[in-house]
Amino acid sequence: MTKDVTAVVRSQFGVAAADYATSDVHAKGESLARIVELAAPQQNWRVLDVATGAGHMAAAFAPHVASVVAGDITDEMLAETAKLAAARNLSNMTTAKAEAGALPFEDESFDLVCCRLAAHHFPDLARFVGEVRRVLKKGGRFALVDNVAPDAQQLPGASASELDDATAAYNAFEKLRDPSHGFAPPPETWIALLKSDGFAIVAREQFGKELDFESWVTRMRCAPSTVTELDRILTAGSPNLRKFLKPRRDESGALYFTLQELLLVAGKGA
Ligand SMILES: C[S@@+](CC[C@H](N)C(=O)[O-])C[C@H]1O[C@@H](n2cnc3c(N)ncnc32)[C@H](O)[C@@H]1O
Repeated sequence: MTKDVTAVVRSQFGVAAADYATSDVHAKGESLARIVELAAPQQNWRVLDVATGAGHMAAAFAPHVASVVAGDITDEMLAETAKLAAARNLSNMTTAKAEAGALPFEDESFDLVCCRLAAHHFPDLARFVGEVRRVLKKGGRFALVDNVAPDAQQLPGASASELDDATAAYNAFEKLRDPSHGFAPPPETWIALLKSDGFAIVAREQFGKELDFESWVTRMRCAPSTVTELDRILTAGSPNLRKFLKPRRDESGALYFTLQELLLVAGKGA
């Protein structure tokens, strides 16, 4: 990872760390309990949560396993994670400075690696998957949750090039709001990447989550001109992007839209 990308992530998330600690999307999102169920954690497991943010995923696994290492590159996020662990009395949870593409851990040292709502920041997804494979024990599991780009399920009837355009438009929309956004691929790209690295898909689910536009832009401290442009894209931008994001206003005029969250559990073979 280049220093520039690391710096952009740290400057975006450093100031926003406390907001992520209380964000409903992160603290209470539907994917949190569901990915724990799908990963079926065991009491003797050693777990690594990559890009833990304010530690919500690490804290969701901690009561079910022997230990959890919560890793991130942003010091302020690690401080929020330590606060959460202390507040919930999770003495088996520790924090570590850890970059997703160069995890500072021994080969085959974890039973489960998890990563939620973060991989779209990583500059090299194949490298990340390779690192996950390296630190997982044989037979270990990888639990991924992330926002994904549109596929044919979301945009039925769209041609391959229209789907590519919609993926590019979706990622540009995210990057305008958060300059540290890298790339969120469609689901099949994740599956192909995992399979090509020898993982078998154990569980796959996907659901739409409703986002409140106002808190989504506020969490990233978007400038007023950026908020105006994001609002324009949602309400008058490319038709396929709007079909995917389903923007709508309530009676008070507040804007909402939907993002697609993919949940995958993959097993590392022998
Ligand atoms: C949205 S937050 C994570 C949310 C959290 N996993 C949860 O479930 O609530 C994204 C996090 O990714 C971290 N991050 C971004 N790029 C990273 C990288 N290359 N390596 C490790 N952490 C990274 C950021 O510092 C930030 O804390």
